[in-house]
Amino acid sequence: MKAPPRLQSLIDEGLIDTVVRQLMSGKEAMVYVVRRGEETLCAKIYKEATQRSFRQAVDYTENRKVKNSRQARAMAKGTKFGRQAAEAAWQSAEVDALYRLAAAGVRVPKPHNFWDGVLLMELVTDALGDAAPRLNDVGFTPEEARAHHGSLLKEVVRMLCAGVVHGDLSEFNILLAADGPVIIDLPQAIDAAGNNHAPRMLLRDVANLRDFFGQFAPELLATQYGPELWQLYQAGLLDTDTVLTGRFQRQQGSVDLSGVMREIDAARDEEVARRVRMQA
Ligand SMILES: Nc1ncnc2c1ncn2[C@@H]1O[C@H](COP(=O)(O)OP(=O)(O)OP(=O)(O)O)[C@@H](O)[C@H]1O
Ligand SMILES: [Mg+2]
Repeated sequence: MKAPPRLQSLIDEGLIDTVVRQLMSGKEAMVYVVRRGEETLCAKIYKEATQRSFRQAVDYTENRKVKNSRQARAMAKGTKFGRQAAEAAWQSAEVDALYRLAAAGVRVPKPHNFWDGVLLMELVTDALGDAAPRLNDVGFTPEEARAHHGSLLKEVVRMLCAGVVHGDLSEFNILLAADGPVIIDLPQAIDAAGNNHAPRMLLRDVANLRDFFGQFAPELLATQYGPELWQLYQAGLLDTDTVLTGRFQRQQGSVDLSGVMREIDAARDEEVARRVRMQA
């Protein structure tokens, strides 16, 4: 197909050769299949900021590092320069998270480049080499649901050990590749240690996995991996080999999770609101 203008500059720079087809146009980005030599890659073009009020909300961007204090002041004031800085920070957040998570062994698309507001990354594919489906477009047996739920929890642990909370993890942002689930869509990724909303986001992410796979394997609905995970993380006891039980006992003394537990309800409400928004 003829390259859209935003991808022409990548062709001019020699970063890609041709544009094969548009994969989809989401709320926040347009995604294309592109070719570079023998390789087929995925190009994600970020849309302008207007429609992103939800994920660019202060919850997500709290404590995000920016280059300097002039930028931070401008972003706080909402000047034009500030909005541009916020835009750049938002777009580069995804590529930063992808590099960090890929290095930590998390199953995310391998990042290749970030140029002119376009993220170039590995195309996640199914057994036929076509773009992989999202989890929400696939049905599972109870065994498959339990297996994927278990392996995705391990990915969440790996992310947390790398200091990252996805913040928008759900069946819409996980692709089913030929060799298992791959996590995508990370511009809102959160610093686990530095953002006060991190526990709420983590609980919501883990609850989304539970609720989705619980449709196929109902016994998952009673599990409490989220609070268990956060408690271990906060106590410095979480590593990538930690065996989780899915049970959670509120601990007396040093670790206070009562605030977190209160947030679970708030997170549920927020999730319902999010789904309503997504359908709108
Ligand atoms: N690396 C990839 N490999 C294959 N398909 C991808 C890849 N990245 C994105 N996609 C496809 O493009 C869609 C949109 O990507 P993504 O979720 O990153 O953008 P978005 O604008 O946030 O979309 P949405 O608003 O729908 O969440 C995904 O649901 C998926 O179908
Ligand atoms: Mg998405």
